Amino acid sequence: MTDQQFPIEQVEDSNTSNNPHFNELLNSRLNRRSVLRGGAGMTAAMMFGGMGLVGCSSDDDEAVAAQPVVTPVTPSLPKSLAFTSVAKNKNDKVTVPNGYEVSVLYALGDPLIDSADIPAWRDDAEFSGASYQFRSGDCHDGMHYFGLTDAGKFTNSRSDRGLLCMNHEYVIPTFLHPKGVTTLANGKRPADEIRREVNAHGISVIEVKRAATGNGMQLVKGSFNRRVTSMTTCDLTGPAAGKDVLITKFSKNGLQTRGINNNCANGYTPWGTYLTCEENFNGVFDRAPGDNAKRSAAEVKTLDRYGLKEGAKSRFGWTNADETTVGLDEFTRWNNSVVAATAAEDFRNAMNTFGWIVEIDPFKANSNPVKRTALGRFAHEGCWPAPVVVGQPVVFYMGDDARGEYLYKFVSKALWVDADVNGGLAAGQKYMDEGTLYVAQFNADGQGVWLELTHGKNGLDSSNTTYAFRNQADVVTFARLAADAVGATKMDRPEWTAVSPLTGECYLTLTNSAQSTADIAKGNTTWRGGKFAVDAANPRSYEDSYSNDDGTTKTNKGNVNGHIIRWKEAAGKHTAATFQWDVYLFGAAADAPAATVNLSGLTADNDFSSPDGLWFDPRGMLWIQTDDGAYTDVTNCMLLAALTGKVGDGGKKTVGTVDTYMGKPAVSSELRRFLVGPKEAEVTGIAITPDHKTLFVNIQHPGEEGKLEAMTSHWPASQTNDTSTARPRSATVMITRTDGGVIAG
Ligand code: FEO
Ligand code: CA
Ligand code: CA
Repeated sequence: MTDQQFPIEQVEDSNTSNNPHFNELLNSRLNRRSVLRGGAGMTAAMMFGGMGLVGCSSDDDEAVAAQPVVTPVTPSLPKSLAFTSVAKNKNDKVTVPNGYEVSVLYALGDPLIDSADIPAWRDDAEFSGASYQFRSGDCHDGMHYFGLTDAGKFTNSRSDRGLLCMNHEYVIPTFLHPKGVTTLANGKRPADEIRREVNAHGISVIEVKRAATGNGMQLVKGSFNRRVTSMTTCDLTGPAAGKDVLITKFSKNGLQTRGINNNCANGYTPWGTYLTCEENFNGVFDRAPGDNAKRSAAEVKTLDRYGLKEGAKSRFGWTNADETTVGLDEFTRWNNSVVAATAAEDFRNAMNTFGWIVEIDPFKANSNPVKRTALGRFAHEGCWPAPVVVGQPVVFYMGDDARGEYLYKFVSKALWVDADVNGGLAAGQKYMDEGTLYVAQFNADGQGVWLELTHGKNGLDSSNTTYAFRNQADVVTFARLAADAVGATKMDRPEWTAVSPLTGECYLTLTNSAQSTADIAKGNTTWRGGKFAVDAANPRSYEDSYSNDDGTTKTNKGNVNGHIIRWKEAAGKHTAATFQWDVYLFGAAADAPAATVNLSGLTADNDFSSPDGLWFDPRGMLWIQTDDGAYTDVTNCMLLAALTGKVGDGGKKTVGTVDTYMGKPAVSSELRRFLVGPKEAEVTGIAITPDHKTLFVNIQHPGEEGKLEAMTSHWPASQTNDTSTARPRSATVMITRTDGGVIAG
């Protein structure tokens, strides 16, 4: 790989603030070429501890070049699932079917560059906060594999070499810091602990290559590898870019922001870029008591609707550092309060610069991430494209994951041309900066409508009584309010969307709407506690008891185990204004009442709770991942494989007081448990090589309920060492077949 093949991007700087370009200095170190050339990269290294980085060895690149280039044909979908179902269990291991093996590829803290200053992870080592720009972040989540050509381009047909992009959704401070979270005598937090947490958020891009034998992959510490963190400078584009709602002290013209945050699920584009989606971003900001009085009623309405009421405290205390970095606003930037005369002098709008779909070009390590505001701002889960058709718009489906939130779709204005494969961020600008945002209404008759969220239509203007929308910037930035105003259907927490490559039908996980009866008794009745009735598309509300390890029980109420809804766009066109829906599967314990809870007839082979990750592999097998807290007294979270039917293959069903539409019952040959995760871990994020022989799965927050002095998991060390005492770490695992065959083939 030569520098000439990959010239460093000349990124135009639209930041008009007087701040030193803190993050660009840090970012510049992510690229080995700029490090080798010194300059800004070395300046930043001196600022943060004099890490004299060395360049990468070229050995890995040469080894890759020696690999044969294979152009695999997508395997056909089997008629029934051939692997043996994995039994539910609570082991501190990833369990897979007989004939499969698991290995750990990339865990929290693992270096992604080859440098003596970024040594290998050690359980007892205290690596600096800055070093996490060169190490794996925490809480691995959504993920995508891009095949990589010898010329450094995207191809969907190469399995021996690729770029794996993955989200690091948030951090578990207890285990991220080797001695846990520190509170100083003055009540402050050590700045470097905060820096470590900020840098452990974001995404990783890592190059992988096939091992010399077998179908496993190895990490290549090459020039594509990068971290984007909650400090990385990002561009803002689309209808809200440059508008007053996005003005901050960092970017007085509202065209940039710093950082991506709480990146949960993901997507990809047909032009070879990665999409990473900002979910629970509100949790990292402070808003001072009394802040409402300093704002307009309209501003207060938007902040309340997006979960940042006055007096809110940051989840991690990022404003509470024991040092100030004058001029850099490194910590004060998380204070979303009015503290100065104008928005250009404080960070009162900082939260408005989060909650977007972020496009990243993994093939250009120095390109800025781009927040595409046309796709709306909410607690984004994923952003999944429909298969592209030449001459048709590009369509993306997106969930907003909170109780009672909505399902959205975006339809590009530009029409797809195949020449835009490998179009990078320029294609992103073409297809994602102009288009139409819609929100879904699921009707009781099994039909649905896409409601347009365009300023001047459907009452979305300054006379609207929900919110006085001045322009399209208001509509996209406060998309939840726009969706409220047009009458979208409140859902049981929309998580991932997936589109079948075979049928074009769309699927959406509705993870659950559970609330404990103890919470409801305290008056926390925001959802099933009373304000919302069931409806056709969210038809279940019931009670389920959970046995704690100490012998006590907890009772949850609502749609405790979640369901998966699906829809078929009218005339099979993803641009359609209407659709037909049914419920593909209802989550449940196998022994739950069949008439009210286990409606899909789940058995020991396939019972599950709280579906979250959802993904069709290229041959059309559906993979379902769980993020559960309702069935974990029986089993750890899991991954299931499914051969889906079609919308309408079941029928009308009366559930309690409502009629719904559901698919045919599950059978083991079509829905089967493929993997069970380690203790207290979410199974989330999935990708496969084009030959379907290497499956990547992310394991998030193992042992999350433990304490440093009383750990409940030692995974991934426990995968191969039953007596390990190591801290638990989120990690990417690879699953291959011992006979070299196709996964679930
Ligand atoms: Fe981050 Fe909605 O799961
Ligand atoms: Ca999720
Ligand atoms: Ca979840």
